[in-house]
Amino acid sequence: MDVKPVTAPRLIEMKSKGEKISVLTAYDYAWGRLIDEAGIDVALVGDSLGMVVLGYDTTLQVTMADMLRHTAAVARGAKRAMVVADMPFLSYQVDDDDAVMNAGRLVAEAGAQAVKLEGGGPVAEIIERIVNVGIPVWGHVGMTPQSVHQLGGYKMQGKTEENAERIKKEALEIEQAGACAIVLELIPASLAKEITEMLTIPTIGIGAGPYCDGQVLVTHDMLGMYDKFVPSFVKQYANLWEATLKAFKAYNRDVKSGRFPSK
Ligand code: KIV
Repeated sequence: MDVKPVTAPRLIEMKSKGEKISVLTAYDYAWGRLIDEAGIDVALVGDSLGMVVLGYDTTLQVTMADMLRHTAAVARGAKRAMVVADMPFLSYQVDDDDAVMNAGRLVAEAGAQAVKLEGGGPVAEIIERIVNVGIPVWGHVGMTPQSVHQLGGYKMQGKTEENAERIKKEALEIEQAGACAIVLELIPASLAKEITEMLTIPTIGIGAGPYCDGQVLVTHDMLGMYDKFVPSFVKQYANLWEATLKAFKAYNRDVKSGRFPSK
């Protein structure tokens, strides 16, 4: 296995060489270590942690304090994988100076190697400012969970020609702003293919078909640890909810019956 740390230039090199990029979300020290040991390229500290770890209904309640704490835990575990931290809702949309400061805190205080921002349009300008202070940035277009109320739910985007054109324009603006990668979430595979061919930075797909330069999944989804809602594009590699429940029940029985601990 390649032991060199995965960096922003390396991601772009991987795209140019046709090497696929593997990304999983991570929220704590153990997940960071496991991602590293498995040879996954990127540990994304997604604000999905608000849903799968903190139990909120959306990602909107996640704070900078949450992201700093969880990113730091992942960064203590992941030494080879690139650690990318989501910028939470309202940490970059209100004030450009705050956006740069918050991105800087995720890098300097928590140990992220890059930050990810959702959306296009004015967000591209903020991305440029963050890149200009030396912080690698990932973009995120298509279905952007921080805009769930505006989008009317977690729905496929880019189905009409007008919407597809807008997403393509946003992706191009994000590349021109200096981003080193871009997440394409829940868009048709044909649109993801077009964007992937148009950009020199890697596209990382989630529910966006097989033509992206890399793939990301929410770890709790692929491990069967979040049963509230499993998107149809998720491939489940384990059912840890069932396995954990079985272990907890066995422990409960052992304690109640006196079988654990032994003499
Ligand atoms: O928050 C997250 O986990 C994400 C991925 C779904 C890309 O942004």
